[in-house]
Amino acid sequence: MRYGHFDDERREYVITRPDTPLPWINYLGSEAYFGIISNTAGGYSFYRDARLRRLTRYRYNNVPFDLGGRYLYLRDTVSGDFWSPSWQPTRSELEDYECRHGMGYSAISSRHEGIEAETLYFVPVDENLEIWRTRVTNKRDVEAKLSLFSAVEFCLWDAQDDQTNFQRNFSTGQVEVEGSVIYHKTEYRERRDHFAYFACSEPLAGFDTQRDTFLGAYNGWDTPAAVERGQSFDSVANGWAPCGSHHVELTLAPGETKEIVFVLGYWENPVDAKFDPPDSQTINKKLVKPVIERYLRSDEAEGAFQRLRDYWSELLGILQVSTPDEHTNRMVNIWNAYQCMVTFNMSRSASFYESGIGRGMGFRDSNQDLLGFVHMVPERARERILDIAATQLPSGGAYHQYQPLTKRGNDDVGSGFNDDPAWLILGVAAYLKETGDLSILDEQVTYDNEPGSESPLYEHLQRSLRYTLQRLGPHELPLIGRADWNDCLNLNCFSTTPGESFQTTENKEGGVAESVFIGGLFVLAAEELAQIAELRGHTDEAESYRADGAQMDAVVRKHGWDGEWFRRAYDYFGDVVGSAENEEGQIFIEPQGICIVAGIGVDDGKAETALDSVASRLACEHGIVLQQPAFTHYYVNLGEISSYPPGYKENAGIFCHTNPWIMIAESIIGRGDAAFDYYQRINPSAREDISELHRCEPYVYPQMIAGKDAPSFGEAKNSWLSGTAAWNFVAASQWILGIRAEYNGLRIDPCLPKEWERFEATRIFRGATYRISVSKPKGVCKGVTQVVVNGKKAEGNLVTPQPAGSEVVVEVTMG
Ligand code: BGC
Ligand code: NOJ
Repeated sequence: MRYGHFDDERREYVITRPDTPLPWINYLGSEAYFGIISNTAGGYSFYRDARLRRLTRYRYNNVPFDLGGRYLYLRDTVSGDFWSPSWQPTRSELEDYECRHGMGYSAISSRHEGIEAETLYFVPVDENLEIWRTRVTNKRDVEAKLSLFSAVEFCLWDAQDDQTNFQRNFSTGQVEVEGSVIYHKTEYRERRDHFAYFACSEPLAGFDTQRDTFLGAYNGWDTPAAVERGQSFDSVANGWAPCGSHHVELTLAPGETKEIVFVLGYWENPVDAKFDPPDSQTINKKLVKPVIERYLRSDEAEGAFQRLRDYWSELLGILQVSTPDEHTNRMVNIWNAYQCMVTFNMSRSASFYESGIGRGMGFRDSNQDLLGFVHMVPERARERILDIAATQLPSGGAYHQYQPLTKRGNDDVGSGFNDDPAWLILGVAAYLKETGDLSILDEQVTYDNEPGSESPLYEHLQRSLRYTLQRLGPHELPLIGRADWNDCLNLNCFSTTPGESFQTTENKEGGVAESVFIGGLFVLAAEELAQIAELRGHTDEAESYRADGAQMDAVVRKHGWDGEWFRRAYDYFGDVVGSAENEEGQIFIEPQGICIVAGIGVDDGKAETALDSVASRLACEHGIVLQQPAFTHYYVNLGEISSYPPGYKENAGIFCHTNPWIMIAESIIGRGDAAFDYYQRINPSAREDISELHRCEPYVYPQMIAGKDAPSFGEAKNSWLSGTAAWNFVAASQWILGIRAEYNGLRIDPCLPKEWERFEATRIFRGATYRISVSKPKGVCKGVTQVVVNGKKAEGNLVTPQPAGSEVVVEVTMG
């Protein structure tokens, strides 16, 4: 069953009923001002940091589950009937409800009793504000007298404090109202130089800024007292809960449309020009007013919307493909790329499942996200790499996360995850391959943000590799530390205290528990660093990294191979994890993926055997589960992984992030049908028809789909912010379609389903536009026989970089 449909031409998903199984959300904003918005206008906005600078309030895990948002109410002055054109919060009957989620905007429209309303929500590129453009049309054959009310609830900036520190917060709220603009200025009187504003293009019939006056003490958002009675109270907030609500009166002739623009924004004043007059406590509005006035104008709002559409056309134009499969086209061309940009902007901070408070920018996560967006915004990838690297510790180790506002690392979600440093090498490698910009390696970058500690970025990479080599265990495999990619495999934690964090606790001293996964990751990273060293002319160094990689490869084959698959780890006692010897958790997906991606076992049949084991033991109709058999009880020596009921999350859920590693591995050994089959099992568009089971948005990947051991097998959770986005994009575009940036050009090496006969792609790479057509007249999966570039036969399947600005025709034949 579906709740809407794709409109690929407009790059939108069109939701046609408001009661989706879960809120189906979208993101607004592209640089600094961001918001999440659901299909019923729920959500919130923030400036740069979802925790520290939140503009509007949202109550997570509420009932009903999506409450707090960018709300509008329409009220018929004659009948007193009122409704929300976005369905929430009043949930009145609507006709022709439609929510179009597009690239950086959402438009929600509906009709009620002959009154149509359509609101377009978006954040202009380069501005710290959002526009709500509402068009109300009278489809009745008589004049309509209406009131339109807006409503947002302001957050007192620090979202964590806002939801906990009521003894203070109930006394600090302050606002100003001037004309049709409401200013929220809590704490502006003291150390903040920023405020929020909420403006309306029309003269007001009234306003409210005190939430409990607007709603009435015991009313909810579905029955605000001001809306019920049809007149605002003109309340001015002092303490308690500041809100912003405009009241506009409309008289519409039959067929008439009226456009009303609202602007909600964030503004920072110079510290020495906060007040006007300077010795007053009144906000200096001189600088912000021109901006507000500009975007309240209909033509400016429209212009800003067109610029947003152009911005996305340009970004998505960097890779466009046309294959025989609509789900592949849609995801690669539109939604997967879009999700990669969202994960770049948000990391794991703000979604319907991430409260914006818990997690900032992950070291491991941000490096992997880079793999999915570097081709779209290489200059921002560069900046991101330098930010991440500046938090690295002198040992080469890493803080697990940093806050985007301060850019400083912290231990809030633990530290000592021993895989972290290696991801920096992979992130930098992806940037270098895309851009060829070796200068980044010479950038002076601090350790732990300490001024004076700078070294070239290249040395950070060297230290990353050394970090693993200096931490080897009894089998010469890398020590796992707190955990590796699998945050929940906590082999030194041994927690028996309820509520204790698995990720910040280490009750036993590490020093024995080892990770085969990090072994594979090391082999991959060592080869990347060897290639980077070669590019810089350090052949000796390259050789030594290759030797380190080869040594680790041998260790993995010796101690990491179980007979039919790669083992997962050795625990605190030196006992094997992920082996036929174990009762539960015999086979894990991660080492099968990463070891083969690193090339281990590709030459001696181990790769094929391991992938056959994945197919027979882990693959199921909704994707590939993380491990089997699921843990049926808590294992103190394994940690959080066994805290989840079987089939969920890391305990044998389909943890989608890992599935593309298997797709890539299958592509490496040339099994195109298998790679594509796995790709389709978790492809959200291909799952659209089972939306009532899948429940999450059909246009983006979730982090997890419940595995076969779960009662809700096939149900997705944690949509949007996941490494799944980047890795599926990489698997589909670089390995299945096989268009891969390398240091010396574009490699074209597809691994396709047998039955495909051709596909086309346009790729902009280092300034040149490549028009690639791949034909596969014979029923093979892999193997390029000929590449012709601008009419001339190329050597092998590497297309060397062509002059920037040129159009390059690339004809590829497989056979
Ligand atoms: C989750 C992991 C997540 C970790 C982050 C765990 O509870 O299962 O997926 O990475 O928390 O802190
Ligand atoms: C989600 C985390 O963000 C990611 O870093 C981790 O690798 C996976 N969970 C697996 O635990």
